[in-house]
Formats: sequence, C-alpha cells, structure tokens
Amino acid sequence: MNRRKWAAALSLVLLLILSACGSGDSPSPSGSSSAGTNQAAESEAAANIDEDNGKILIAYFTAAENSGEGVDAVTTASFSTINGTAVGRLRAIADMIAEHTGGELFSIRTSVVYPSDIGKLIDYAAQEQSEDARPELVSHIENLDDYDVIFVGYPNWWADLPQVLYSFFDEYDFTGKTIIPFNVHNGSGLSRTVQTIQELEPGGEVVEDPFTISERNVEDAAGEVDSWLDGLGY
Ligand SMILES: Cc1cc2nc3c(=O)[nH]c(=O)nc-3n(C[C@H](O)[C@H](O)[C@H](O)COP(=O)(O)O)c2cc1C
Repeated sequence: MNRRKWAAALSLVLLLILSACGSGDSPSPSGSSSAGTNQAAESEAAANIDEDNGKILIAYFTAAENSGEGVDAVTTASFSTINGTAVGRLRAIADMIAEHTGGELFSIRTSVVYPSDIGKLIDYAAQEQSEDARPELVSHIENLDDYDVIFVGYPNWWADLPQVLYSFFDEYDFTGKTIIPFNVHNGSGLSRTVQTIQELEPGGEVVEDPFTISERNVEDAAGEVDSWLDGLGY
C-alpha cells in the first residue's frame, strides 16, 4: 500500500472512530428532557420566591367567589372588569400583586353561600357581625411553613373585617411571618382592621404601610399597586 492509500485508510479509520464517539456522547431524548424538566421546575420554584423577602402567599376573600352562583348570576356591583373578564374586586388586586411579586394565590372560601343580591348581603353580613360568627372555612393552606410573607386581602364590611377573616386568623398562626394587608372599600378605608389583624396574630409582623383602595378605582389600580410594592421592597 503506498503512502497515499495509507493516508486514505487512516482518515477512514479516524472518521469511523470519531463518528462512533459522537453517537456515544449524544444525550438520550429522556436524558435531555429530564434535564429540561428539572430546569423548568427550578425556575418555577424560583418564580415564587422573592430573593430578599422569601416565599410569598397572597390570600384574599371576595364575595364574588363565595356566592355559589357563578359570575353571571351575581350582581355586577360585586365585580371589576379586568381585560374584559369579570373578577371579584379583591381578586383583581390579588392578581396585580401576584403579577408583580410572583406570589401564589389563595382564595379564602367558606361553606356559607352569601346572598348574590347586594342589599341582602349587607343585611346578612350585619347579622354575622352582631353574632360574632365564625363562618366555616372550606379552603385551607396546606403548606403554611413554606411561606415567609402572607398578603391578606379583604373588603371592608361594616367598618371591620368580614367575619370569615376572623375564622381565617383563628385557623393559622403566622408567628415569624410578615403579614401585608390590602383592602377594598367604599369610603371607610381600612377602618381599624390592621390593628385587629395585629391583635389576632401577635407573633406576626404586620407591615405599617398596607394597601387600601376605593372600589371605584380597582380597575385602574395596577400602577398604584406596583408603586406600593416597590416602596415595600418587592
Ligand atoms: C356586607 C357589606 C358591607 C360593607 N360595608 C362597608 C363599610 O362599612 N365601609 C365601606 O367603605 N365599604 C363597605 N362595603 C363595600 C365593600 O367594602 C366594597 O364593595 C368591596 O369592594 C367589596 O369587595 P368584593 O366585591 O371583592 O367582595 C361593604 C360591602 C358589603 C357587601
């Protein structure tokens, strides 16, 4: 075999070795997809964690998710229209907070079916308040230990927390956690609710700058919510 033939044969052998090595090193479809899944899970988990403030839960109560009759049957007075969709006002603000912080939403739900008629609801809530009722909760936070920060959103009902919020604070001990109230009202603001929350959760740290907004301004509140959260360091 002359030099040229040897060189050609050697090149062929090298080529075969290289291509064999190449196929051996290729990641299998399952290997590459599981790496992808791990990365997706990690970034999903990271999305719920604020680097400075820890893991965030956004709990809220809105009449619209506790009337039991669905959006169409409930008076439109209980809803805001955000991007063409009708949502309870507290839910609308909770969504804005979630958008800004990456926190997880939690709807405070009760077995009580609140009247969809606003006049009847107002009377019903007055009765609940006069009895100092504790409506039964049907939604529960399964992994409270995971969270460092709990946003808690509620409407002003008769210048106080809705009674179901008393059930909520009875059920959980927020010792060591940061509690950030947000509220929607029709003129009364927060009333005394922030002090009440601190009394109900003496081991938690209630922030001194909670969010409050009139029901008339909820639909355009995103900018205000963002500035408030920026001010709190989120
Ligand atoms: C039973 C009831 C009592 C209310 N009491 C007050 C009140 O004392 N002061 C006030 O400013 N707004 C009051 N409001 C208005 C609510 O705070 C306001 O409509 C809020 O947006 C309701 O939130 P939601 O629609 O997400 O449930 C009351 C509303 C209801 C239904």
